[in-house]
Amino acid sequence: MNRIFSGMQPTRQLHLGNYLGALRNWVALQDQYECVFCVVDLHALTISQEPEVLRNNIREVTAAYIAAGIDPEKNILFNQSFVPAHSELAWILSCYTPLGWLNRMTQFKEKAGKQKDQANLGLYSYPVLMAADILLYKATHVPVGEDQKQHLELARDIAGAFNRHYGQDYFPLPEPQILGEATRVMSLRDGRKKMSKSDESEYSRINMTDDADTIAQKIRKAKTDPEPLPDTVEALEARPEADNLVTIYAALAGETREKVLASFAGAQFSSFKTSLVDLSVAKLAPITRRMNELLADKGEIDRLLRRGGERATALAERHLVEIKDIIGLLRP
Ligand code: TYM
Repeated sequence: MNRIFSGMQPTRQLHLGNYLGALRNWVALQDQYECVFCVVDLHALTISQEPEVLRNNIREVTAAYIAAGIDPEKNILFNQSFVPAHSELAWILSCYTPLGWLNRMTQFKEKAGKQKDQANLGLYSYPVLMAADILLYKATHVPVGEDQKQHLELARDIAGAFNRHYGQDYFPLPEPQILGEATRVMSLRDGRKKMSKSDESEYSRINMTDDADTIAQKIRKAKTDPEPLPDTVEALEARPEADNLVTIYAALAGETREKVLASFAGAQFSSFKTSLVDLSVAKLAPITRRMNELLADKGEIDRLLRRGGERATALAERHLVEIKDIIGLLRP
């Protein structure tokens, strides 16, 4: 039995990195797997959130999933806080997780910065909650962008530690699925920095809610170098901004970078950018339009999330009872 679990945080708007690195792959995978797609609202609490903004972002991420092509009937689509078993399993798993494993997490180090003592406990134990998300559904596959690789390795380690402790293969070791050309989309302002929701520059990312004019402006302003496009992928290695734009084009067009270079080798960036704007708008505008239609009926989004939450609960509760039996906790 193969099952997928994946999720996104409802912190600010989703961007092109979230779409190309993860969401678009989910859409393709939903026909081959039983899928559980989650809006991980509890993870979002690791940074300060305004209640009304958070509520809207949860709905917006849900709308983005559906607008991109996730079928809420075929798949289980819900928000994490609806299912208390996520928090419960996170506690249980934290008791099998040595601190040394968490101390290695590079994302915590980046996010906590120099003032580690000021960082909250949630940020530190974030990867344990993520492991709980995945293991609660006994997921075998987790489609994510490259930046989640280390968290996935930790989830595998925690699953292995639990299995070894009780001498049985209860949890499958979840496999990361890091797929496609754009597994790490970079900032439009700096080709060595990841495109991220937390970058203070709006020009660093294309949001899934950006209109055609905004997309065009951001791509035209994107940092490049003065050379024309090369004819080999190797020649992109020392040119991170050029590489990023070619990668974005390839991912949106469903082609390889080689194929894109075969068409654009020798072109100036000004003309390549015009083609990239056209392609981006053609691919993203229908999704944005659908998102806005869905967001016009918040009641319907909430209803969909509730129904998905009930389906998720049924599966989660069944597994949690099994886990409690293994550990020696009494059943409710
Ligand atoms: P989050 O919300 O940061 O990102 C959601 C997904 O988008 C991918 N992604 C990117 N891919 C390519 N290029 C980028 N610049 C880029 N930025 C983000 C991420 O890899 C991710 O797949 N910890 C997770 C959320 C989470 C989760 C889970 C994921 C919580 N529980 C269980 C999978 C399974 C996160 O912060 O994703």
